[in-house]
Amino acid sequence: MFRKTATPSIPKGEELIQAIDALRRERKAVILAHYYQESDIQDIADFIGDSLQLAKAARDTDAEVIVFCGVHFMAETAKILNPERVVVLPDLRAGCSLADACPAEELAAYREAHPDHLVVSYINCTAATKAQSDIICTSSNAVRVIDSLPEDRPILFAPDRNLGAYLQRQTGREMDLWQGTCIVHETFSEKRLLELKAEHPDAKVIAHPECEPPILAYADHIGSTSSLLRFTQESGFTKFIVATEAGILHQMQRHNPSATYIPLPGQDESCSCNECPFMRMNTLEKLYLCLRDLEPRIEMAEPVRLAALQPLERMMDLG
Ligand code: 13P
Ligand code: SF4
Repeated sequence: MFRKTATPSIPKGEELIQAIDALRRERKAVILAHYYQESDIQDIADFIGDSLQLAKAARDTDAEVIVFCGVHFMAETAKILNPERVVVLPDLRAGCSLADACPAEELAAYREAHPDHLVVSYINCTAATKAQSDIICTSSNAVRVIDSLPEDRPILFAPDRNLGAYLQRQTGREMDLWQGTCIVHETFSEKRLLELKAEHPDAKVIAHPECEPPILAYADHIGSTSSLLRFTQESGFTKFIVATEAGILHQMQRHNPSATYIPLPGQDESCSCNECPFMRMNTLEKLYLCLRDLEPRIEMAEPVRLAALQPLERMMDLG
């Protein structure tokens, strides 16, 4: 006769929050969350930030365990910077369309065909792709990164063609652009944006540079998630049409509750296309399970980690 081993059940409601809190202390863990995570996860996190802020928080932590509530490339970045710490991601399937668009082998083939080019990779790529790059950037520091490169070297920017085109306009540098896109930011509707602007003539349009050029053309402010958040707090304006993933609205409302925020919908208004399906794979229940089981973990081969660390450190050294 088989005896069934009972699987401990997952607590619910307030008990779930308390259990996560107790496990976090027991495991000496830090919970890092991106602004695109669901509100409950943002509320329980030790630190919330954009890609650059989270990479820095991961680099500087002395916690034994890093629970990364974001997507796979972000947790991988934490592991590249922290080989000795346990890094867990609530759902290992939380990927990214930009990371998928630029496999390391294809980038290696490009490099071979263009040995004179410097390769700048957006942090939204795998560790293996980072390992094929000269320097990494995020949406917060991309202009600074491009400006730091020698003027006589041609550049490939990968994998986001929209951020790349925006950077060409900002820096005046011609670059080869990899043709990746973010499935959330490429979906925003220009028609809906014009309708919303007509309905709310006093609203400022704020947009992430991953958006397509026709959306960026209407933006009063373009920046990373942390830059958009700062603009809603410091600009003095009180109404915003927000062209980025809708998770950021939680912090906007928290920090400046008297302002009005209108999330720009995608072209198909019947879906929640302005929510990243990868980011939303993480849930409080999965967060609890990964703290309890210390699984699923991010692991990578040491040669890949060391090769990815170099371009990442070049970015970090720029400040
Ligand atoms: P930032 O966190 O740099 O604003 O990038 C947004 C994003 O799409 C992360 O996946
Ligand atoms: Fe990737 Fe876009 Fe999701 Fe960010 S929002 S993780 S860029 S798919």
